[in-house]
Amino acid sequence: MQLFKLVALLPFIAPLALAASSKDCAYKTKEEVHAPHGWIKHSKPSPDHKVSLRIGLPQPNFGILEQHLYEVSDPDHERYGQHLSKEEVEELVAPHQESLDSVGEWLSAFGFKEEDVTRSPAKDWVSITVPVSLAEKMLDTTYHVWKHVGSGESLVRTTNYRLPSNLHEHVDVVQPTTSFGRFQPFKSTVVPFDEEPEPLVNSLVEAESFGSDVTVDPSCNSTITISCLQQLYNAVGYVASNNTKNSIGITGYLEQFANIQDLQTFYAEQRPDAVNSTFKFFSIDGGLNNQTLSEAGVEANLDVQFAFGLSHPIPAIFYSTGGRPPFNPDQTTPTNTNEPYQAWLDFVLTQKNPPLVVSTSYGEPEQTGKVTKFWADKSTEALFSVPESYARRVCASIAQLGARGVSVIFSSGDGGVGDGNPNPATQQCITNDGRNVTRFLPTFPASCPFATSVGGTEHIDPEVAVSRFFSGGGFSDYQQFLRPAYQQAATRKFLSTLPDGLYKDLYNPAGRGFPDVSAQGDRYRIWYQNRPILIGGTSASSPAFAGLVALLNDARFKAKKGPLGFLNPLLYSKGASTFNDVTGGRNPGCGTLGFNATEGWDPVTGLGTPNFGKLKDIVTSRFAL
Ligand SMILES: *[C@@H]1O[C@H](CO)[C@@H](O)[C@H](O)[C@H]1NC(C)=O
Ligand SMILES: *[C@@H]1O[C@H](CO)[C@@H](O)[C@H](O)[C@H]1NC(C)=O
Ligand SMILES: *[C@@H]1O[C@H](CO)[C@@H](O)[C@H](O)[C@H]1NC(C)=O
Ligand SMILES: *[C@@H]1O[C@H](CO)[C@@H](O)[C@H](O)[C@H]1NC(C)=O
Ligand SMILES: *[C@@H]1O[C@H](CO)[C@@H](O)[C@H](O)[C@H]1NC(C)=O
Ligand SMILES: *[C@@H]1O[C@H](CO)[C@@H](O)[C@H](O)[C@H]1NC(C)=O
Repeated sequence: MQLFKLVALLPFIAPLALAASSKDCAYKTKEEVHAPHGWIKHSKPSPDHKVSLRIGLPQPNFGILEQHLYEVSDPDHERYGQHLSKEEVEELVAPHQESLDSVGEWLSAFGFKEEDVTRSPAKDWVSITVPVSLAEKMLDTTYHVWKHVGSGESLVRTTNYRLPSNLHEHVDVVQPTTSFGRFQPFKSTVVPFDEEPEPLVNSLVEAESFGSDVTVDPSCNSTITISCLQQLYNAVGYVASNNTKNSIGITGYLEQFANIQDLQTFYAEQRPDAVNSTFKFFSIDGGLNNQTLSEAGVEANLDVQFAFGLSHPIPAIFYSTGGRPPFNPDQTTPTNTNEPYQAWLDFVLTQKNPPLVVSTSYGEPEQTGKVTKFWADKSTEALFSVPESYARRVCASIAQLGARGVSVIFSSGDGGVGDGNPNPATQQCITNDGRNVTRFLPTFPASCPFATSVGGTEHIDPEVAVSRFFSGGGFSDYQQFLRPAYQQAATRKFLSTLPDGLYKDLYNPAGRGFPDVSAQGDRYRIWYQNRPILIGGTSASSPAFAGLVALLNDARFKAKKGPLGFLNPLLYSKGASTFNDVTGGRNPGCGTLGFNATEGWDPVTGLGTPNFGKLKDIVTSRFAL
């Protein structure tokens, strides 16, 4: 009893005293998962195989950061737009000194000195590179090479790890251990090359003056160009400036980089005034930028062509983050860094001036599922799983960017409520909790409450939910990603329209609903390997939406206001009525018809597609904000 009192009164001292007792140094299980379906334990890795262990220390003041984030992002709050500085954010995510000490003691017991460890600026992450044999001792576990049955891909992972019991409260997460997760680009639907599109006929209607009702060229019903998006989303005639305070970023993962020659050809065709302009390139963890035409990524080309084509001449940045399985498990080099979102987030959080809007067209099911990825010429399937402990930390980093004034945008996925497998008979929407029951598969990071996620539409007049693949949408299953206040009314209203008991046990109605918004998602005309192709996916919707957000920031700067930052509280309140409501189509999956696009918000197309002109008026209005 007394001990409890002591802990309560002297939280920084009492646990240290506890640490001295050997009983509390005994190892206890920190995390245990079931391996996702389809992965089998294959062999032992070489004891010398190196892993880069990342240790996340708790952020005891994260709740305060979250409160600041919501205040500065709420258009009805007096602090709207007063974003925090890098230093202020770092102070709010810093761990307790006691956590630093406890983890430090544990590391030094295994021979690590300060110079062997890498720390994030806020010291909330510690990284060390160790042979797997040592990682096994430190985490009292056994790593295996896991192989995926379908694709033959390998990962070095374990299904559980342990830590001394006194460390449990000082460590949130250690990876790579239990995470079988990996990014997938959402470009599910590259139109095959033998259907090479006709040359673009420039039959576009004369742009009417900006702000008035614009006519949309009928060709936009089947081929999306920069001009189509400007017409559909009421941005015709808006001229952005090359204000160096403004910026837009695209992230690329796996081996994707964007080809500059293709970008120039695209500009010549669709954005002539942008010809000869380009973007800044950053490589993280060995991310590639091999400008060889044949090596460029179709996803990266799509993203830069549309995001930067829409936002020209706003300064543009492309990030290529390396660290991609499959890898050779016998190599001793740490090629298996596997957590690329966090690697990019770590990098960008160290930047004094991160890009003010960033689009990412990658993601994976929160829990487990079969994801089909179509490269230009081959397709493979793989199963993934992201433990909540890890997802929560990635999401916390997204919140930090929001608090600093960055709008973080993600595609919502291409699998509807399910796994994206076009054959319902072989869809695997099966839980990874040992029960093996059917469950919808929400997409992460689209389900992070601090991200803005973008679903897909198609056609014009009316614009409907995309149907060649299905707009990812639904409700988060992570216990901590509960419905945020900003979407309380919108999601409740939607849920009240569902037939009683429908999809009971397939989703969590209390979870964060996504996507937030949507944009055209199919038949984008891009240049790839010196040829025009048509491509689709919410991969296309996200950079398109981000391009418009960059233009909104431009308008904000012109009105002597700061960047928009975290968008959702604005979008669901003052912004909601500006969206083009999408009420046709649905997002099937897991053997169901999925949800319907309905009046108001729905987990297929969110609030709808943007009207740039109307949003611009709101975000630059003297009185409204
Ligand atoms: C757009 O294309 C769809 C599918 O081909 C068609 O059903 C629809 O009528 C077209 N809409 C317009 C406005 O041309
Ligand atoms: C920005 O635009 C101005 C006017 O068009 C031009 O003179 C200047 O060189 C541009 N700056 C950059 C950095 O592109
Ligand atoms: C782009 O650069 C090339 C080579 O410097 C030049 O010939 C061309 O006129 C430029 N085009 C535009 C539109 O600025
Ligand atoms: C880029 O790709 C080409 C073609 O595959 C290859 O010959 C070249 O070595 C690569 N360069 C780099 C730096 O990887
Ligand atoms: C769930 O699936 C796994 C892997 O397919 C299997 O090993 C396990 O026995 C199944 N559990 C139940 C309760 O069916
Ligand atoms: C979707 O709409 C159809 C037709 O109105 C209706 O039959 C179905 O029950 C709706 N589905 C859901 C999930 O609301």
